[in-house]
Amino acid sequence: MLEGKNILLGVTGGIAAYKMADVASMLVKQHADVHVVMTENATKFITAETFQVLTKNKVYVDVFDEEPDDYVNVPHVSLGTSADCVLIAPATADVIGKIANGIADDMVTTTVLPARCPILIAPSMNVYMLENVIVQDNIKKLKRFGYQIIEPDDGHLACGYDGKGKLPQPEKLVEQVLLACAKEKDLKGKKVLVDAGPTQEAIDPVRFITNHSSGKMGYSVAKVAALRGASVVLVSGPTNLDTPAGVKRIDVTSAEDMYDAMVKEAVDSDIIIMSAAVADFTPETVADNKIKKNSDDEGMVIPLKRTKDILKTLGSMKDSSGTVDFTADSFKVEDKKQIIVGFSMETEKLIENSRKKLESKNADMICANSLTTEGAGYKVDTNIVTMITKDDMIELPLMSKDEVADKIFDKIITMF
Ligand code: CTP
Repeated sequence: MLEGKNILLGVTGGIAAYKMADVASMLVKQHADVHVVMTENATKFITAETFQVLTKNKVYVDVFDEEPDDYVNVPHVSLGTSADCVLIAPATADVIGKIANGIADDMVTTTVLPARCPILIAPSMNVYMLENVIVQDNIKKLKRFGYQIIEPDDGHLACGYDGKGKLPQPEKLVEQVLLACAKEKDLKGKKVLVDAGPTQEAIDPVRFITNHSSGKMGYSVAKVAALRGASVVLVSGPTNLDTPAGVKRIDVTSAEDMYDAMVKEAVDSDIIIMSAAVADFTPETVADNKIKKNSDDEGMVIPLKRTKDILKTLGSMKDSSGTVDFTADSFKVEDKKQIIVGFSMETEKLIENSRKKLESKNADMICANSLTTEGAGYKVDTNIVTMITKDDMIELPLMSKDEVADKIFDKIITMF
């Protein structure tokens, strides 16, 4: 995802510096051109050679250690100005204090100063050092200047204390780099609301009705929206998936819970994408206690009632010009363009049935996917989707769910 991107890592002297070898390696695997600058103290924890081997680029520790070529492009300036993203990790109290106050007296701090790209700072230190008012003040100052702070984790620290101050795991740091620079921010300023996963409809305290949805498609949609700069709310039924970076997740269980959360969040959303496999039916009553077997219960029947159709409800709140008309009691009236996208899962007459849903639910687009085609459907990481709008129909080939999500947003952008 980072083809053609230039990522600069600034490694300073904390024990967590060893984790940065993994970070560098993961970024290289994402096809980034990775450059590393280190403080002298960082080399006490991990060698420059480690990063050189992993990144295939010269690692700079000393500002005056210049190659002949460097007389033309002074490294601390060219590395800073050519970066698409800078990550300072681990960031010690010392480097935080220096950057916050414009001090540039080593390779890391001098390289950060000319950078014009997103700069991420991951503080990592003893819990009491982190709580120190001066350190906190410097962190606030950095935020105010537009630097992005990656919150340290809580846990057992190398110094023996328990508390906040751990450098997050390499995967988390890489996610933040992707969020900062992987994609063009063409959804900046838009609120994207996504629902995903199955719902669970309780029968009694130990049993429920559900479906095979893994939530993968919706999570890809939420992840890609965040990477493209949107503010994203993901309303999720029970899944085993991690929340994508930069996404606010609201957990729900039943179709009713999902309806309530979606209706509340829809008010100020610009784009709503509904990929959840919402139960169409729920037990009429939920037993207070576990239902026990008895001798005359052969052929037991559980009476079901229809759930509310969330997509249809939100679709009915838009008038024909696509303007939201939130006149219901719980809504404040807003006058803005809102795009609503549904997914349609069919085992027969895919396009015909999906077109009907486009009309009956007043959606702007239906993404039709067949359960019976190999490579499409619930559990896999790929999908085969046909995007149907009132005006056209685009058949996408087999692709990853992340790629499908990108295509959906490419199409939505043309609809605004
Ligand atoms: N949907 C919803 N609320 C429901 C049921 C479905 O919001 N109670 C949404 C789904 O999230 C999806 C779209 O409606 O975006 C189509 O869902 P699908 O299950 O394919 O169709 P249904 O509406 O359930 O219709 P049918 O039972 O006829 O297939």
